[in-house]
Amino acid sequence: MKPETVLITGASSGIGRELARCFAADRSRLVLAARRTDALESLAAELRQASGIEAVILAADLARSEAAARVFSQIERDGLEVDVLVNNAGFGAQGLFAKLPLDRQLEMVQLNVTTLTHLTRLFLPGMIARQQGGILNVASTAAFQPGPHMAVYYASKAFVLSFSEALSEELSGTGVTVTALCPGPTATGFGEAARMRRQPLFRLLTMSASSVAKAGHRGFRRNRALVIPGVRNRLLTFSVRLAPRWLPRRIVGAMNKPIET
Ligand SMILES: NC(=O)c1ccc[n+]([C@@H]2O[C@H](COP(=O)([O-])OP(=O)(O)OC[C@H]3O[C@@H](n4cnc5c(N)ncnc54)[C@H](OP(=O)(O)O)[C@@H]3O)[C@@H](O)[C@H]2O)c1
Repeated sequence: MKPETVLITGASSGIGRELARCFAADRSRLVLAARRTDALESLAAELRQASGIEAVILAADLARSEAAARVFSQIERDGLEVDVLVNNAGFGAQGLFAKLPLDRQLEMVQLNVTTLTHLTRLFLPGMIARQQGGILNVASTAAFQPGPHMAVYYASKAFVLSFSEALSEELSGTGVTVTALCPGPTATGFGEAARMRRQPLFRLLTMSASSVAKAGHRGFRRNRALVIPGVRNRLLTFSVRLAPRWLPRRIVGAMNKPIET
């Protein structure tokens, strides 16, 4: 039997790299996509050696509008069929919406929302036709409430969560599953990329990329529509549902306010 092929975006660091390790342990064939080819190459070499799997790298700036179509045709040209799509690449930016550079925020929407949607639309029909496979979308606990001082990022993750849950329902009975992974604060390159100066409370909630990836991978294999790693994150997202609508946005606004340095 041929191994399952898994395409992972944003596999060069953080949660994506750890998800690659989880799928390698299943002996899947991996296609690792991101911009930093040196990091992808060393991960691919490590996984080939440690797990004896096939791992190829795909250099792509997924914040470009043509990127999803290019990734899809490259994979078709290589004669691969993607069984599992992991939409993990994403970034945030901390600051006031009116002051953050517009191009950076539009790039965020392109990567976190548009490319994720585009890749899903391109790879899903093949999965449905083969009556197997799945999509693992990395959202965030940010998806559960508005996020003042990171407004576009929180809104982008609300899209990912809503979109993934809706698809999971639409695809019921097709043999194809969709999982939304919603991590809370995780120790990765994310904070640096977002130029975040985080309040101390974030440090208390922080989980390792490896435990987040393991929870996401396990939930995906169990066909869960939603995975929130960590008891504290589950409690926080649950409490948002019970609170009056104005309260979470006020608390999150205070938590996301950059600390003075
Ligand atoms: N860390 C957290 O606290 C946290 C919490 C909840 C959700 N998340 C989500 O988890 C996902 C992974 O983030 P992370 O925490 O693992 O951060 P990370 O270590 O910064 O990893 C981000 C990954 O996305 C890739 N990426 C960024 N821009 C890209 C672009 N234009 N084209 C292609 N790839 C791009 C990066 O690769 P290159 O730089 O090599 O391109 C990298 O592999 C994101 O969707 C993030 O929103 C993170």
